[in-house]
Amino acid sequence: MSKVILEVNDLTTKYITRFHEDVYAVDHVSLKVEEGKSLGIAGESGCGKSTLALSLMGYYFPPLHFTSGEIIIDGQRITGMDPDTVRRTILGTEIAYIPQAAMNALNPTRKIINFIEDVILAHDPKVSRKDIYDLARERFEILGLPEDVLQKYPVELSGGMKQRTVIAVSVILAPKILIADEPSSALDVTSQKMVIKMLLDLMEKGMIKSMIFITHELPLLYNVTDDIMVMYAGQIVEKATAQEAVFDPLHPYSKGLMGSIIVPEKGLRNLKLSAIPGVPPNLKKPPTGCRFAERCKYVIPECKTHPIDLRETGEGRAYRCIFSEEYLRKVYQIG
Ligand SMILES: Nc1ncnc2c1ncn2[C@@H]1O[C@H](COP(=O)(O)OP(=O)(O)O)[C@@H](O)[C@H]1O
Ligand SMILES: [Mg+2]
Repeated sequence: MSKVILEVNDLTTKYITRFHEDVYAVDHVSLKVEEGKSLGIAGESGCGKSTLALSLMGYYFPPLHFTSGEIIIDGQRITGMDPDTVRRTILGTEIAYIPQAAMNALNPTRKIINFIEDVILAHDPKVSRKDIYDLARERFEILGLPEDVLQKYPVELSGGMKQRTVIAVSVILAPKILIADEPSSALDVTSQKMVIKMLLDLMEKGMIKSMIFITHELPLLYNVTDDIMVMYAGQIVEKATAQEAVFDPLHPYSKGLMGSIIVPEKGLRNLKLSAIPGVPPNLKKPPTGCRFAERCKYVIPECKTHPIDLRETGEGRAYRCIFSEEYLRKVYQIG
């Protein structure tokens, strides 16, 4: 087994709203990402993907609160560290996060080079502006971004270019792991492809050691990440290789996200996504039993009476369902 870059054990975090209600958005999540590997996290909107990403940074501020569990990055336990140490020594260098829609949140009055200066100077105030410029130019060249972008304002860039720039800025300190939250969701197909290729290049060229790619479109992860974790209502419902999650999903929710029929030889191009009827449950009061039960077409009364554990099926695969693998494969075959 190669070196583990990110290890998360039984992490639980919640929001406390201003009406003092708890929202259980990340519920007992465990995962591992090894050096050179990428993990995709998929699930509909509201399933807790962004909250998990934020929680992984180990840097909590209200309304988000750490409840229990541990996060270890490259052998260093970051849970329990004081927030200031996390901000100074972990964020940007050990772990970097590109928030959802980050490209639309850039300060419009600052040039791209100024954002890079902010990131580098926050980490080391002694670096000269010339050294920052030289490093930025070198990185942009390696990543195939035009140098003149450095002197531009966000508004002067197209959506695709803005997103690629945000990614380049976020990895300027060569973090060990990059978390990209829906990095291609708001873009046209061509820009989406360029963004995904750029993320793959970052891994290939050693600018990051590992990656987490978050999306609400499970099929998008095929051929992009090595492994896939499907989240539903704050919990992991399936962990598998990308190949398994896409072509042999076990959890009925993963199956639903993949749509109905996949013909491996034809690839995923013509796949029609079937929307799953209903909506995810309210996380202020999650159901006692299987959280997907209300929407599951295979539901039986037992699903609703007690919590369902994540079951390991060997070789790193796991799923959270009352039914056996054999049973699920058979019912999916019938359709
Ligand atoms: N600031 C917040 N305060 C309270 N609840 C929140 C807050 N942000 C998100 N949530 C809730 O947490 C749950 C998970 O949201 P989120 O992590 O954004 O999901 P996703 O990224 O999968 O769409 C949702 O039920 C959402 O309503
Ligand atoms: Mg999100």
